[in-house]
Amino acid sequence: MTIALAVHGGAGSVPEELIPYRKEGLAQALEAGWQLLGKGKDALSAVVAAVEVMESLPQFNAGYGSSLTDEGRVEMDAGVMTGDGLHVGAVAAVSRIAHPIRLAAEVLHSRHILLAGSGAETFATIRGLPLVDPADLISRRRQRLWEARQRGEQGAALTDDAGKTIQVVQDTVGAVALDNAGHLAAATSTGGMSWKSPGRIGDSPIVGAGFYADDALGAVSTTGWGETIARSLLAYQAVSRLEQYTPEESARRALQFLERKTQGWAGLVLISAKGEISVAWNTKTMGYAYRREGEAATVYS
Ligand code: GLY
Repeated sequence: MTIALAVHGGAGSVPEELIPYRKEGLAQALEAGWQLLGKGKDALSAVVAAVEVMESLPQFNAGYGSSLTDEGRVEMDAGVMTGDGLHVGAVAAVSRIAHPIRLAAEVLHSRHILLAGSGAETFATIRGLPLVDPADLISRRRQRLWEARQRGEQGAALTDDAGKTIQVVQDTVGAVALDNAGHLAAATSTGGMSWKSPGRIGDSPIVGAGFYADDALGAVSTTGWGETIARSLLAYQAVSRLEQYTPEESARRALQFLERKTQGWAGLVLISAKGEISVAWNTKTMGYAYRREGEAATVYS
């Protein structure tokens, strides 16, 4: 069975000067997941490893570097699914977890599918995952953006952690994989929308919205405006269309459905049960990377 992996760093618009950092992070994430798939590890391990890399990097909106609530705090969501048995694990509104995707994978192996807030954090300690100071997840760039907003400078050009001037809209990271046993997995992790109300939960931890995987059809991870993705169940829309259409057509039709029904904006990466990969978005741009057995990696941002 062929192996294949696709990762994304979010749909939105990214300034020119940030693109090299984004590409570098996407390539690192792809490599982390690919190494595991190449060693015969399962698709779930590969998507979790890939997403963990992006959760560690400030150029992505997940883990360290997450966008902030209007109170200046990090509240993250994440979800994973395996296509073999439709197992799901997700966490919502967590603030003290460095890698929400790892915690989501722990939930997948529990009797629940979704844990939120302090309950999710208590579960993390039971599973041996460390709790961190929420302040340690706030990047300098996010702090500066929040402070500028407090001063009424919303949209002002600011500087990133490397001191470069930036103005950026970006979103959610994710990965989909096919392993050598023919099993699929999908993973999605996010800091959510900037300046959200405390307690707001988006699409990323919602099965069928932020992620979906079914070994018979394919796997999808989505990114974009969470309320519209959740209302249209974007990930499920794309996977279910694989019964009738090619991967490209399924991705395109799912996005058209979201646009038509909700006037939303989004992007997605899709992998079919045969390892075909498709990426679609209706935003200015979307960062992604993918690789299939016997082929070189493609990285785009
Ligand atoms: N798509 C991420 C969010 O809206 O929370």
